[in-house]
Amino acid sequence: MKKNLTDSKKNRVVVRVPGTSANCGPGFDCLGLATTIYNYLDLTLIRSGKVVVESVGEGAENIPKGRRNLTWQAVSRFLKAVGKEDEFKGAIIRMKNNVPISRGLGSSSTAIVAGLFAANEIVGAPLNRQELLKLATELEGHPDNVAPALFGGFTVSVMQDGEVQTFSFLPRVKLKLIVAVPDFELSTRLARKVLPRNVSMKDAIFNVSRASMLIAALVEGREDLLPLAFDDALHQPYRKKLVPGMSAVFDAAKSAGALGAAISGAGSCLIAFTTLHSGLEDKISTAMTTAFKSAGVTSKALILDVDRRGAQVVRR
Ligand code: HSE
Repeated sequence: MKKNLTDSKKNRVVVRVPGTSANCGPGFDCLGLATTIYNYLDLTLIRSGKVVVESVGEGAENIPKGRRNLTWQAVSRFLKAVGKEDEFKGAIIRMKNNVPISRGLGSSSTAIVAGLFAANEIVGAPLNRQELLKLATELEGHPDNVAPALFGGFTVSVMQDGEVQTFSFLPRVKLKLIVAVPDFELSTRLARKVLPRNVSMKDAIFNVSRASMLIAALVEGREDLLPLAFDDALHQPYRKKLVPGMSAVFDAAKSAGALGAAISGAGSCLIAFTTLHSGLEDKISTAMTTAFKSAGVTSKALILDVDRRGAQVVRR
């Protein structure tokens, strides 16, 4: 009995993973940032083939139980990758979720990253974060949410022949993030379905110039260049019809002093950016939720910072 208890303690870890905001305006499928809202995973790897899932918090009632659970799929993918699938055939997965589901704040990425990161810790961390990112990207399909969830900060990711390369940095401009969370979900699949197959050279140049300016301004601490840098011509114009009031919320945020505003990931959340020292976050959040309300959408606001550390062990 005592031995079993010690064993299960040894095979258990609690981790936290930040919610993320992908695209950041012009960086479709390549830019992302980690935020200070967190999901927690208490994972125990077990030898029997049982998968037990318990969750509280955001979306708890709809989170798949058993082997269809996304965190289990990540754990199982990890165990296969390190040749431990015969040693641990099941898991006890306890989740406490604060990140709203299907709103563009990376909830599915937190589930994947938490599973990979926690399982890796339990077996003695054979993979580094870059190697975990590779598995996470394979499971998620694109790197822009899983990269900041793992590394923290602001991330730039490039895909080459199915392999991902990520640069993660802490912006020298201290950003404050204002997220308007509408009371409706938006599936990423639908939000990708409305996008065109091809875009014009003009729109491509519009985005390349802004995405480049955004990174340069954040790395160099050039707040004065940011008002130019958050606009997008590649995905937001097509997704506008899926988020009623989108343009009005962007205008309201900017009129209240935001540096820029964008759809968070594939939506439905809208995110505005200001600086830590502006003191404008309350004014911007009220302007955003009021504009949403005028468009018939109920929303709540989250005021967040950029998470600096990415996935972390909370307790062993
Ligand atoms: N870059 C993705 C998109 C993020 O905008 O579709 C969603 O996960």
